[in-house]
Amino acid sequence: MKDTLRACIEDKENSYTPIWFMRQAGRYLPEFREIRKENPNFIKLCLNENLVNEITLQPLKRFDLDAAIIFSDILMVPYGLGQKVEFKKGFGPMLGKLNIDEIINTEATEFTKKLLPVYKGIKKVKSNLKEKNLIGFAGAPWTLLLYMLNKESPKNNFNFDIINKDKGLTAKLLLKIEETVCLHVDKQIEAGANVIQIFDSWAGLLPKKELTNFCYNPNKKIIEHIKSKKIPAICFPKGIGENYIDFCSLVKPDCISIDQEIDPKWIKEKLNGIPVQGGLDPKILLTDNEKIKKTAEQYLNIFKDYPYIFNLGHGVLPETKPETVEYLIKIVRDKK
Ligand code: CP3
Repeated sequence: MKDTLRACIEDKENSYTPIWFMRQAGRYLPEFREIRKENPNFIKLCLNENLVNEITLQPLKRFDLDAAIIFSDILMVPYGLGQKVEFKKGFGPMLGKLNIDEIINTEATEFTKKLLPVYKGIKKVKSNLKEKNLIGFAGAPWTLLLYMLNKESPKNNFNFDIINKDKGLTAKLLLKIEETVCLHVDKQIEAGANVIQIFDSWAGLLPKKELTNFCYNPNKKIIEHIKSKKIPAICFPKGIGENYIDFCSLVKPDCISIDQEIDPKWIKEKLNGIPVQGGLDPKILLTDNEKIKKTAEQYLNIFKDYPYIFNLGHGVLPETKPETVEYLIKIVRDKK
């Protein structure tokens, strides 16, 4: 039998709704927190192939999910390019000084050598997963560029004109990141990933007139590259609202992941059949069972005759109870 995500994405199968969650391996799981406590350096943790394997499989041991997403981080790409990356508790990612020449001159072999444990971790997971999907991922160039130049989450502090002050530099960096993301994706596919998701988490911060240059074009090049490997690609250009439609007609992803701001009915009508993923507000999982059921069923009903992968509009929040995740999965499983 074909795996469930690819049947939905490639064959537009709609009789079964596959389900997985962004950040399904993460802080809401006590077994993750336990490993994390003993591994205060997050990057080192992402480079420990045995723990990558173990953490990736944690949610699948508990829940009836259709896919594993490799435990890693989008900021492994700047790390592989030689920029220092740290995670400070309660603050988020902190990146070091940007040495442009070092970044531009990083060779492919140097990058893949630094990230070798990531690929070895994927191989390990693959050998333990059997028929389920294994999702590899990367950040989109704009979101990575933003972290690399801003050096911290734009949630704390962001100004587009400062980021794009030196246009020659941003253009050069974007191209280098795009090329490196393609390389990183290739290595994940070689190691066993059979679906790729590209996270453009901060696409919503771009002024509308900059979307083509910073969001659509780089995503398009990466998606074309992934398609050439015959692997389906899911795009998540979070926060771009009505521009989701332009994104889809220009980038042509195999599947589009929507955030909670998008009206699911509206997008379904506008998309011409591109498979959809996600949408449910992760904050709903912090409310009561009745509300969770009602909201989840709204998505399930709207996408009843449409290729749809159940997921959230963003990652599972650390405050979420594991029992709530289990409850939500049961709702999706009972629906069809
Ligand atoms: O989804 C999964 O389960 C797979 C693993 C995964 C992680 N990060 C693990 C992680 C994935 C797919 C990511 C992607 C990622 N990382 C994105 C894109 C998706 C999104 O959330 O928008 C971004 C923007 C990052 C950068 C990043 N990494 C942030 C903003 C944070 C949170 C920092 C904080 O203190 O809250 C991380 C850390 C991170 N990445 C954690 C996990 C499980 C939490 C680590 C911890 O503190 O224990």
